[in-house]
Amino acid sequence: MTELHTITVQLHPSYDIHVGPGIIHHIRLHHRRIVVLADERLRDQHLPTVLAALRQQQSAEIHSVVLPAGESCKNLAVFSRTLSQLAQLGLSRDSAVVALGGGATSDLAGYVAASYLRGVAFYVLPTTVLAMVDASVGGKTGINLPEGKNLAGAFHQPRGVWADTELLTTLPASVFAEGMAEAFKHGLIEDTALINAILGQHWTAHSPGLVALVAQAICVKAKIVANDPHERHERAFLNYGHTLAHAVEAATHHTISHGDAVSYGLHYAAWLGKHLGMVDITAMTRAFIDQQRPQPLPELDFAELSGFMNRDKKADEAGLRFVLLEALAKPVLMRVDDATQAAAYADWWHDVKPTV
Ligand code: GLY
Repeated sequence: MTELHTITVQLHPSYDIHVGPGIIHHIRLHHRRIVVLADERLRDQHLPTVLAALRQQQSAEIHSVVLPAGESCKNLAVFSRTLSQLAQLGLSRDSAVVALGGGATSDLAGYVAASYLRGVAFYVLPTTVLAMVDASVGGKTGINLPEGKNLAGAFHQPRGVWADTELLTTLPASVFAEGMAEAFKHGLIEDTALINAILGQHWTAHSPGLVALVAQAICVKAKIVANDPHERHERAFLNYGHTLAHAVEAATHHTISHGDAVSYGLHYAAWLGKHLGMVDITAMTRAFIDQQRPQPLPELDFAELSGFMNRDKKADEAGLRFVLLEALAKPVLMRVDDATQAAAYADWWHDVKPTV
């Protein structure tokens, strides 16, 4: 029998996240007009399956729009063009937008759904681990501006998510691995059993137990989002490791992927905690790096990364706050003085710098 997990995000209204192999064949949506916004890399591979499943509903009119691949869809030009396409297709208030792709696709599609006619129904079919455990849960949608990442957007919760784990088997190994960094982060901030499960074996898209692992990681995010949908408090804990990660991405002009940057960022946050006398998890985050084998870093200068970190979205007028762990699964938000940041950086760099 097919393994299927359903996680309910307890918001008002609530919505279900279905996780299992082959579930995109069984999608049913009760809308008269539906537009699937799909990453162009899925045009021949998964889009036809989704359209065929949706077309089994005789009464629905189904359309698709192909979006530029990955992050290249998250801009004002694609946003505006896609809104016009929805208008030309005659979508009305009771129509639905479906995202098919990774996190960038659902960010753009969700923002389009939030904006068109001031909001139409939105569904997500995530196709990467990262999108399944993170981007498709919690309704953060948006695009990048020339001035920076995710500077325009809206909270627009999906009405349903179908995470088909069979789709992960078609991903390059490095793209699969990226999402494991977010799943590991969920373990560190909330679920020690998830940490042990991730470190207990080398995970691939074919690993037995993957469906349950993805569902477990989604449960962490679903719980946090239900408690704090608009990131007034505990949702910020999901940024554990991300302050340095975003700086690494910016300083390397995104040649280091988000997931790889998060693997390094988790290790830096662990070093910060150790310097502050909090729980020492540096061996654990180091073990994760050894397992993940992220792309080696180029030479990185603390002053430059510090500049990027201080422009991080968690910096307010009083300065930057880091997510740190008082104990495993006990995150806190804290200001950290510059000397401690620099000392932790020196230890972190000693640990992660490429050896020749
Ligand atoms: N990716 C972090 C969040 O959704 O809050």
